[in-house]
Amino acid sequence: MAKYKIAWLPGDGIGIEVAEAARIILDRVGLDADYIHGDIGWEFWRTEGDPLPQRTLDVMAKTDCAFFGAITSKGKDVADKELIPELQGKGYVYRSPIVRLRQLLDLYICLRPCKAYPGNPLNYKEGIDLVVFRENTEGMYIGVEYAQVPEAFYQVPGMEKIPRDAAVSFRAITPGSSERIVRAAFEYARQHGRKGVTAVHKANVLRQTDGVFMEAARKVAADYPEIEFGNANIDAMGMWLLKNPLNYDVIVTTNLFGDIISDLCAQMVGGLGFGCSGNIGTDYAVFEPTHGSAPKYEGQYKVNPIATILAAKMMLDWLAEGDKAAQVEGAVAEVIAEGKVRTYDMGGTSGTLDVARAIADKL
Ligand code: NAI
Ligand code: MG
Repeated sequence: MAKYKIAWLPGDGIGIEVAEAARIILDRVGLDADYIHGDIGWEFWRTEGDPLPQRTLDVMAKTDCAFFGAITSKGKDVADKELIPELQGKGYVYRSPIVRLRQLLDLYICLRPCKAYPGNPLNYKEGIDLVVFRENTEGMYIGVEYAQVPEAFYQVPGMEKIPRDAAVSFRAITPGSSERIVRAAFEYARQHGRKGVTAVHKANVLRQTDGVFMEAARKVAADYPEIEFGNANIDAMGMWLLKNPLNYDVIVTTNLFGDIISDLCAQMVGGLGFGCSGNIGTDYAVFEPTHGSAPKYEGQYKVNPIATILAAKMMLDWLAEGDKAAQVEGAVAEVIAEGKVRTYDMGGTSGTLDVARAIADKL
């Protein structure tokens, strides 16, 4: 029996192609794993009314962690129309499978390392090496939204200020979830010899919710006196990150701000072809590139697999296969620095699997 069981969820479009590329690397580096396929994505929404069928959750329950490519999702009207006729009008509601997985499996950390590998022509500045910890289960993503304010709300003092025709979304921030994400960031900083942790918020406006987050952050920070603790407003942080990206190290923030800031950070180190992510809980994790299924490139084996290969590197780290993780990262760095095998986004003409094979050849 193999040492690990990994749920393999390629998904849709280029998700399938980049997952294939990552497998070339995992096989070459000699990870002793069984990969068990799981259905996820648009086809299963269309034909079964569920983009994340129960059988996939059952596969995941039997595995150590999961590796996810990308999926296609579409707006409500299109989603309803594309259901097969037998399922139409039966009340099926599309929900993002990845958001569902994060909540269902309590994958409370969204970890997004953003590193400028030397020689990458897409680097915004050389030397950027940031790690974003995004809270992954609450905040603006709890899915409690109203197209119209429910009448009962108007009984609550202060609510009369909300216009009658307003749509409202709820943001929930708990001390417990705030504490555990900040602690995860500090633990990471300690283990990886990082200098500082910056908590990002908008506590001057979102006084209640970000008040809770910042109070938890200050409390946790006190347990790590050797690590510098700073904080910044989300808006200012956007500006500071562009101005002085080298001043930051580990960033920790709530769900929506983390979503935004991690895309900014990913863009500074090469964009979607480099953005990788781990959704990590206490004893399960899902690793993925941050990009989507890029329908316009589907079937062309043209897109950059490096984001996905770096997600595989993150998975190796999480499985405590640190040597293999370091080998993979070293091979990626070498291929980037050499500049001979590059996909279109880096100015080259090589294909997805050419890049994967070039990286595998360094292993
Ligand atoms: P996308 O990330 O799929 O692609 C946007 C553009 O970025 C592509 O057209 C391409 O030019 C570039 N790109 C993406 N990945 C690349 C790579 N590996 N190498 C080089 N260039 C790359 O975002 P888009 O077009 O907004 O969404 C397409 C579909 O993906 C939608 O159905 C969307 O809902 C879904 N999506 C899924 C995500 C996931 O599975 N986690 C995340 C984001 C979008
Ligand atoms: Mg995003």
